[in-house]
Amino acid sequence: MSFRARLTLTMGALVLLIAAALFLYLPRKLEREAIALISHKAETLAQLTAFTIHPSLYFEDRAALEEALSGARRDKDVAYLIVTDPAGKTLASMHPERATGGRGVSRELYEVVMPIRDGNRELARLQIGISLARLNREIARARLTMALLGAFILAAALVAVVLIGNLLTRPLTEVAAGARRIAEGELTHRVPAGRTDEIGQLAASFNDMAAKIAERDASLRQLSRRLLSVQEQERVRIAREVHDELGQALTAMKIDLQQLGKRRRELQEPLGAIAHNIDGIVDLVRRIAADLRPSILDDLGITAALEQQLRRLRESTGIATTLTVSVEPQIDMLTGVTLYRIAQEALANVVRHAEATAVEVSLVVNEGRAVLTIRDDGRGMPQSIDAASLGLLGIRERAELLGGSVAIDSPPGEGTMIIATLPLIPMDPDHAHPLR
Ligand SMILES: Nc1ncnc2c1ncn2[C@@H]1O[C@H](COP(=O)(O)OP(=O)(O)OP(=O)(O)O)[C@@H](O)[C@H]1O
Ligand SMILES: [Mg+2]
Repeated sequence: MSFRARLTLTMGALVLLIAAALFLYLPRKLEREAIALISHKAETLAQLTAFTIHPSLYFEDRAALEEALSGARRDKDVAYLIVTDPAGKTLASMHPERATGGRGVSRELYEVVMPIRDGNRELARLQIGISLARLNREIARARLTMALLGAFILAAALVAVVLIGNLLTRPLTEVAAGARRIAEGELTHRVPAGRTDEIGQLAASFNDMAAKIAERDASLRQLSRRLLSVQEQERVRIAREVHDELGQALTAMKIDLQQLGKRRRELQEPLGAIAHNIDGIVDLVRRIAADLRPSILDDLGITAALEQQLRRLRESTGIATTLTVSVEPQIDMLTGVTLYRIAQEALANVVRHAEATAVEVSLVVNEGRAVLTIRDDGRGMPQSIDAASLGLLGIRERAELLGGSVAIDSPPGEGTMIIATLPLIPMDPDHAHPLR
């Protein structure tokens, strides 16, 4: 669950709890207070009435009794009123049918029963019922008002919770999104910084980290490029040395042997066999030199070099090959070597892993880009690739070093297609070292 969802949920639950507590507690308290008030009124009224009718009871004057009760009768809150003598005979009454016989609070009434005494003698008994209708109406109205108000406050609080949640988590979300982009390799991306709080510090740290990674990445790339270029130079040197020095020495040796053979007839035959072996060694030396750095790449260009690679593949494995080149590209040395090495590794993979019967290579140059595609009809790449495999990694690395990219498409069972795209460096005719 996201931080925002959790925050909103927690705060929402808190608001709900407070609202529920208020809902339950406030009306109850109001009701209790109202009842206390009404009971006070009822007791007071009863006492007052008792006090007022006391003389008329004492003198047993019915007319005076009625007169004394008129005030209580007019009171709208009085639901009923009964005055009985000690024997239980009614002396005066108003709505006696509403009396329940009990005392205290019930749903609709608050009832008081009060003996009226003169000394120890009971003169009469007064029962008064105060109607709670008005009070109940008022409580209901208060409840409704409170519910409406509560609902409004609850809604407002929930909206506020969501807004606050957004407000608090937005910067975090932004930092997270930025960090994700950096993690995905967009090293130039920067997380919005500038806040002075902890989130701002986090963003600043992320940015620092991204800058350091980018720096290290750049220097690693530079190192890689340097190593590759040194490697190529070294290969050129070794190839030349092997080809020129070793080749020449072997050729000289063969000539010496031939001279010797002319002088010593009886040795002609074994010397001829040695010379034949030397021819084989010269061929081998040439092949090793060509593998190290095909002079064909420098002499005849990338198309011829690719052709040669494919011819060798066809001859050694029987896999059918096709080469399509749009136009012979005018490319610089490094791009040419890169294309050559990518093709070399991809074709080696076809031979080693694909079980293919045919392979197509195409080189298309347009819009300042060279696109090299190597496609086979083999079994496709496995789902997971051994982490120790370096071939594909090298292909990608070489392309990226020149600002290019590599895409691999390999639906299971439908062969493998590797597409390397390299930007072409515009060649300055004075300084460039074109491949042809
Ligand atoms: N054309 C292909 N067809 C089928 N599988 C392939 C193809 N190319 C590569 N693979 C698979 O991808 C894996 C990785 O290839 P990669 O070239 O990186 O390593 P490798 O060839 O195994 O070893 P190396 O580091 O010597 O090149 C291979 O092991 C193979 O399983
Ligand atoms: Mg490989």
